[in-house]
Amino acid sequence: MTDFDVILEGVNKTFPGNVRAVIDFNCEIRHGEFVAMLGPSGCGKTTTLRMIGGLEEVTSGKIWLAGKDVTDLPPSQRNTSMMFQSFALFPHRTVLQNVEFSLKMQGVPREARARRTRDMVEMVGLGPLADRRPHDLSGGQQQRVALARALISEPTVLLLDEPLGALDYNLRQSMIIELKKIQRDTGITFIMVTHSQEEAMSMADKVIVMSDALIQQTGTSREIYESPRTSFVASFIGNNNLIRGTVRSRSGSIVLVEAHGRMFYVRVPDYIAAVHVDREAHFSVRADLMHTGEHPDMANRVEGTYATTEFRGSLETDVFEIAPEVYVSVEQHRGVNDRMYDPGERETICWPADAGVLLEQNP
Ligand SMILES: Nc1ncnc2c1ncn2[C@@H]1O[C@H](COP(=O)(O)OP(=O)(O)OP(=O)(O)O)[C@@H](O)[C@H]1O
Ligand SMILES: [Mg+2]
Repeated sequence: MTDFDVILEGVNKTFPGNVRAVIDFNCEIRHGEFVAMLGPSGCGKTTTLRMIGGLEEVTSGKIWLAGKDVTDLPPSQRNTSMMFQSFALFPHRTVLQNVEFSLKMQGVPREARARRTRDMVEMVGLGPLADRRPHDLSGGQQQRVALARALISEPTVLLLDEPLGALDYNLRQSMIIELKKIQRDTGITFIMVTHSQEEAMSMADKVIVMSDALIQQTGTSREIYESPRTSFVASFIGNNNLIRGTVRSRSGSIVLVEAHGRMFYVRVPDYIAAVHVDREAHFSVRADLMHTGEHPDMANRVEGTYATTEFRGSLETDVFEIAPEVYVSVEQHRGVNDRMYDPGERETICWPADAGVLLEQNP
């Protein structure tokens, strides 16, 4: 059990008025892991983080930190540190004094305190700004002060609630790289809450996707991107096409699904134990695995009517209607010689048999 810095076992939180904020949350987080909790607003991310930090009591379930049951312990006895979205810095203290604060509270002797504070301020890249006050710093610099202040007490776990939420786009991009580097350098376990897929996917070793108070899926970024398990994850992550149909037959790890008057080959991932023939099923196909035009080597083929194109940097997504009100997105790099479509034009769309992934029914 001591392999894990954090274990949550069957954790539930119900607020007065029967608001079920977190339902049966289970996870195991290894020492030094960077975990992201990802999900839409109101799904229970902050509540879960606050329960780990002891700022919120669990309604039922257990929480272990570094092998110790802390379920009933106050925050001061948990050795966690929390970094809030609003950095909550002391405005009248310098960078050094802000960072030093918790060591002072702990009664660390002056010399050791000064050395550790200086090292930490250097590590987050604020050495030259150590004597400034928060209002003389940019948003990104203030964010680093908050990070240094949270890390200085060497917590077992650092809890970060939307740490990049207040930063503009460019700053957020550079802080994504920075934060990941600091996490590696310190080796401290990070649990970060975000509703940004990009932040979660680019920083975390492990992503916990939540919706409606429930964990939908836990896995690496790649697992979640390539094999979404539920329709929620498939629609929330990446540029996935969700298709609903009926399973007609199974042969090994491939099923035939009938949808919109056609048959599609769909891969059954290992974690789906049972497939019921003649029952409704959903599958997802990543937009970048669909191709326009005839591709005889690909098992799946459907005709669609061109609707529109969405531009996203070097990638373009062409949208086709394959049945009344059913659209698929085909994402590709468009070269100068590639075909452009007029609205209403017909086109063939193909994808390989294993590009479609069968989804679990939502719990
Ligand atoms: N103190 C409280 N009393 C009652 N209900 C609460 C309380 N705190 C949170 N909730 C409810 O619990 C649910 C989960 O809230 P939580 O703050 O954990 O969501 P979140 O995933 O962090 O959302 P966001 O992305 O908007 O920050 C919401 O329905 C919220 O209204
Ligand atoms: Mg929140």
